[in-house]
Amino acid sequence: MIIAIDGPAASGKGTLSRRLATHFGLRHLDTGLTYRAVAAALLAKGLPLGDEAVSVEIAHNLDLAQMDKSVLSSHEIGEAASRIAVLGGLRQELVELQRRFAEKPPGAVLDGRDIGTVVYPNATVKLFVTASAQARARRRTDEMIAKGQEANYASVLEDLKRRDERDSQRTVAPMKQAEDAVLLDTTEMDIETAFQAAVDIVSRA
Ligand code: CDP
Repeated sequence: MIIAIDGPAASGKGTLSRRLATHFGLRHLDTGLTYRAVAAALLAKGLPLGDEAVSVEIAHNLDLAQMDKSVLSSHEIGEAASRIAVLGGLRQELVELQRRFAEKPPGAVLDGRDIGTVVYPNATVKLFVTASAQARARRRTDEMIAKGQEANYASVLEDLKRRDERDSQRTVAPMKQAEDAVLLDTTEMDIETAFQAAVDIVSRA
């Protein structure tokens, strides 16, 4: 059983995916972390983000168990992740890694941008989780402030819009709702309501 969850930055897909995995007894992979881990390694080595050969090599040696969300969640790494996510060879390497993770029983919830379109076009159920840019920027700002980071709503909103634009306009595996995905707009929902809606969608499938 594979549950594919896609959607733009700060749409709530991460929290939903984690909770769905717990609820249905499945494994969970935040595929955004795989792009973030490669970006973080390039930044740490001072290497250019456009170097595909090096990024493929880093991806090839990536250990999912070593990915630390608290370290990788920084704004700078998210921006760099979105820049390297346009590299076709890198995507191919990471998609293979993601499939190897998901194929172990009993199945998995994968969240990202291209799960329902590229990684698992035959997923058991697909959700496209979204919310207005304003609601997403508000959530991301609150999240950063809660972590003690500096955050400014207006610049967070600008950054989200720029990243959405880059993610949806790239030629390789652009972010888009799969034809057979169910749209879940969480603009007016708190996390509990969104979770119940997602459980209903998955249960029906
Ligand atoms: O948590 P947030 O929504 O801010 O971002 P993320 O899911 O960690 O993803 C970071 C970046 O990785 C995205 O902006 C995408 O460019 C890229 N990504 C992707 O291209 N494909 C995926 N399956 C997951 C992430």
